Amino acid sequence: MLVSGTGSILQALIDACADPGFGARIVAVGADRDGTGGVARAEAAGIPTFVQRLGDAPDRFMWDRKLTVDCHMFEPDLIVAAGFLKLVGAAFLGRFGGRMINTHPALLPAFPGLHSVRDALAYGVKVTGCSVILVDAGVDSGPILAQAAVPVLDGDDEATLHERIKVAERELVVDTVGRMVRYGWSVQGRRVRIGASG
Ligand code: GAR
Repeated sequence: MLVSGTGSILQALIDACADPGFGARIVAVGADRDGTGGVARAEAAGIPTFVQRLGDAPDRFMWDRKLTVDCHMFEPDLIVAAGFLKLVGAAFLGRFGGRMINTHPALLPAFPGLHSVRDALAYGVKVTGCSVILVDAGVDSGPILAQAAVPVLDGDDEATLHERIKVAERELVVDTVGRMVRYGWSVQGRRVRIGASG
């Protein structure tokens, strides 16, 4: 798993993985910065961790290669980015493309990018939510695996809305990762089907 922040979605996956029937095991947690809650949660759960900071690499290209090597060492079947605030590059996608997923706090293709909750509020939508997507070379542009809707309430600010989205997001990510590892998935164009019943 790749994280940049508090790691509450990571925690939901750690908890889900405690049940052998869930079908997944988190082999490592990586971050792009020091001192993340995500890495602390992984350490508390006895999961190997690594940090690959952009500032420690000569350029973005080399950072991407170093991150690829870090992940490759743990031989993951699936890469899950949850609140990972960096775009991966060609080396990473060459190695893990098609089996890297990201969770995003909006109903894509609406409100891609880093400020999606703020953008949705400012636009005045009455329903927003979260999307779990396969990562491609664009910004939040990959095929959609799953989505959940969350109503926007009149009194919402960015923080209250994001917290409510994250409640839905934790459930959606756990459900989606579990179904992917148990049943597999296939992609045709932009349409993704998980398992036989999709
Ligand atoms: C989640 O809402 C995730 O969608 C968002 O960061 C939060 C991480 O929460 N990611 C992005 O905005 C990436 N563009 P967490 O650290 O508590 O798991």
